[in-house]
Amino acid sequence: VPRSARPLQLTLALLKPDAVAHPPVLEAVHETILNNKFLIVRTKELMWRREDSQRFYQEHSGRFFYRRLVEFMTSGPMRAYILAHEDAVARWRSLMGPTKVYRARNTAPDSIRGAYGLTDTRNTIHGSDSAASARREIAFFFPEFSESLWYQQDEPRLR
Ligand code: TYD
Ligand code: MG
Repeated sequence: VPRSARPLQLTLALLKPDAVAHPPVLEAVHETILNNKFLIVRTKELMWRREDSQRFYQEHSGRFFYRRLVEFMTSGPMRAYILAHEDAVARWRSLMGPTKVYRARNTAPDSIRGAYGLTDTRNTIHGSDSAASARREIAFFFPEFSESLWYQQDEPRLR
């Protein structure tokens, strides 16, 4: 193994209904994935029922935007990806840009949300926020993947 080799990390990316409804946005995000040398490990299109949306965003129940978020995320088809890259979680979050659309547009206009986000809720893209979230979210969308493979998401760097 070359000295420069770094372990791959997995993250979960999700194209939200506003993105999937607009083919040029979907295409642009796909290009962002490939141009940044992420490997697409799995991908699929899906649509959530209300219970899926509530379960996935359970940590936000009680927040002022929860109902709006749950509604929006069931409003149309989405596309989920398992992405692999060195530091995939942080790198993908950085390509996404900030959550809030005014902040994304002002501080990261070239990020996915800065370029395509419509509102704080309709913000185009999701990415896991930690290695632990990535493991949980990968199992949420791709249970067959998690069950069929052993992978260690938090392997310490040996150097
Ligand atoms: P959060 O986990 O804070 O953001 P991120 O997606 O960047 O991890 O919030 C989850 C989602 O909830 C967010 O992508 C869109 C929605 N949301 C709103 O609709 N309004 C808000 O003010 C916030 C903070 C989030
Ligand atoms: Mg989050």
